[in-house]
Amino acid sequence: MATIPVTPRSARADRSRQPPLGEVLHRALVTSVALAIAGLILFVAVRGFSYYTLGIEQRPLSPLHAEFRSSGTVGLKLGILSVSMLGILFLYPIRKHFGWLKRIGRTRRWLNVHVVFGITTPLVVTFHSAFRWYGVAGLAYWTMIAVALSGFTGRYLYAKMPRSLNSVALTMAELEAQAAALAAELAQNSLFQAEDLAPLLTVPSAEEIRSMNLGRTLWNMLWMDLVRPFQVGRLRRRVLAGAAQIRTLGGLVASRNATLESIVSLARRQSRLRAAMAFLDRTERIFRLWHVVHRPFSISFVALILVHIGVALSVGVLHAH
Ligand code: HEM
Repeated sequence: MATIPVTPRSARADRSRQPPLGEVLHRALVTSVALAIAGLILFVAVRGFSYYTLGIEQRPLSPLHAEFRSSGTVGLKLGILSVSMLGILFLYPIRKHFGWLKRIGRTRRWLNVHVVFGITTPLVVTFHSAFRWYGVAGLAYWTMIAVALSGFTGRYLYAKMPRSLNSVALTMAELEAQAAALAAELAQNSLFQAEDLAPLLTVPSAEEIRSMNLGRTLWNMLWMDLVRPFQVGRLRRRVLAGAAQIRTLGGLVASRNATLESIVSLARRQSRLRAAMAFLDRTERIFRLWHVVHRPFSISFVALILVHIGVALSVGVLHAH
C-alpha cells in the first residue's frame, strides 16, 4: 500500500475558515423551508391522528372526514401544496436539461433544494392521500416512493463523483499532499506507527474492484464509509485513557488532544479520498445506470400524476369546495 505526501493543513486554519455569506443564506433558507414543512406535517399528523388511524369504513362517519379525506378542506390543500412542491422539485432536472439555465445559481445548491423537496414532498403527499393508495393515484404514489428512495443511492454516489476532470487532477494532487503531511506528522511525534493507520488507509486493489459486481461494489463502498468512524475511534482509544475515552464516547467524537486530532483528521480525509479514487470508475458506471432507472420512473410518475389530477378535476373535486 503506497503512502502519499504534501503541506500539512492546519486544523485551526480550517476551523477559522468561514463559509461565504451566499452559502450561509442558502443553508438558512433550505433549513427554514425544511423545518416549516416538517412543522406542517407534524401539525396535520397530530390533528388528524384519530382520523388517519380509523378503518376505511369508519372514516365517513368521523366528524374529521370533511377535513382530512384527500378531497377534504385540509386534504385538498395538501394535494395542491404537493403539486407546487413537485414543481420546485423538478426545477433541478429542468435546469440540468436546458443548458442556458445552468448559469443560474450553483448546481450543488439546486440539488440541495431538490433533495429537501424530494424528501418532504412524499410526506405531504402521504397525508394528502390519507394513507389510501388505490388505482392510478396509488400507482403514482408508489412510483414516487421508489424514485425518492432511489434518490438516496443517487445522492450517495453523487457525493463521490468529482465534478470535472480538473477536480480529478486536484484530488490526486491533494491525495499526494495529504500522504506527505501525514508522513511528516507521524515522523514528528510517536503517537502512531504507520501500520496503526493501515486498516484505515487500505483500499481494495484495482484487480479486486474489477472482480466485484456492481451490487458488491456499492456494498463495499458503503461498508468502508460505515466502519470508518469506528476505525478512527480505535485510533483515538490507543492514545486516550480513562475520562478522555469516556468524554470522546470511546473515541467516536473529537478529543482535546490537538496532535492526535491533526493526525486523525489527515488520516480520515486520506482514507475517504483513497476510497473515492479507487472506486471512481465503478462509481461513474453505477451512477450512469442509476440515471437510467431514476429518469424513466420520474417521467412515469409525472404522467400518472397528470392522469390523477385530470380525473380529480373531471369528477369536480375542486368545485366541491
Ligand atoms: C418525489 C421524489 C423525486 C423525484 C420525482 C425526483 C426526480 C429526479 C429527476 C427527474 C432527476 C433527473 C434525472 C436525470 O438527470 O437523469 C433527479 C436527479 C437526482 N435526484 Fe431526484 N427525485 C426525487 C427525490 C430525490 C431524493 C429524495 C433524492 C436524495 C435523497 C434525490 C437525489 C437526486 C440526485 C442525486 C440526482 C442526480 C443529480 C445529477 O446527476 O445531477 N432525488 N431526480
